[in-house]
Amino acid sequence: MWTATTKQDLRSKLPGLPRPVILVPTMGALHPGHASLIELARKRAGENGTVIVSIFVNPIQFDRPSDLEKYPRCLDADLTVCRKNGADGVFIPEDGEMYFTDRSVTVIESSLSKHLCGATRPGHFDGVCTVVLKLFNLTRCDAAVFGEKDFQQLAIIRRMLRDLDLGTEIIPHPTVRENDGLAMSSRNGRLTPEQRVSAPRIRQALTIAAEKSSVDDILSTARNFIEESPFAKIDYLSLVDAETLAPADDLSSKRVLACAVFYGEVRLIDHITIKPRA
Ligand code: PAF
Repeated sequence: MWTATTKQDLRSKLPGLPRPVILVPTMGALHPGHASLIELARKRAGENGTVIVSIFVNPIQFDRPSDLEKYPRCLDADLTVCRKNGADGVFIPEDGEMYFTDRSVTVIESSLSKHLCGATRPGHFDGVCTVVLKLFNLTRCDAAVFGEKDFQQLAIIRRMLRDLDLGTEIIPHPTVRENDGLAMSSRNGRLTPEQRVSAPRIRQALTIAAEKSSVDDILSTARNFIEESPFAKIDYLSLVDAETLAPADDLSSKRVLACAVFYGEVRLIDHITIKPRA
């Protein structure tokens, strides 16, 4: 498995790489959820294709400096996960490699990112789109794997592809969960033992609420269930249209019930799809 730490180094590897080239973009701190993304990339690339994992804690997508500072960094363990799950190469740009200090061009998504996480994290999705587009360009990948856990991110990346006519195929991977239902996240390791015991309530709340038959019932059931935990502080809880991500006030088409919940400083997200009701 090769590694490249500069753009130049990466570019020098590209000409000989067998296609398809499948990218798994990550910010490191790889957990079994990421391992499944790499495994899926390996399957899709086949024996002869190329799987590249990128590991880059992208500073321009962090809206809170403390979150960027505390983001876990564990490169040796990450490289082991990449190797074990079939990556051929890992791109690990050093600080300062990805952005010019006087950079002046950014990808701005101005519709889907107005809702959900985007509403409380200004600039976050512009930072994500910008780095993802750069990674697509740098690796010249044919396809890229993204987890469905970050469903707003996935929707926005698909919109960027559509609006900018990018030819990269997006391969989604279902959310990977702990045995107790908590969605796997690099942030879970920062929960205290008490918070960790309470955090699966998020998934339980969404699952119970999804059975209700009115918008009000869905929202109040989920809110009450989450707020029963003394550790949980809801950042947002919304029922949105699955296409536009705008708040929905009926169940006439496919909806998504999504939330972000703070446990202390740790912000966890999850969502559930709600089928249209007759
Ligand atoms: O989902 C993530 O880990 C990041 O947002 C991504 C897609 C790697 C961009 O930095």
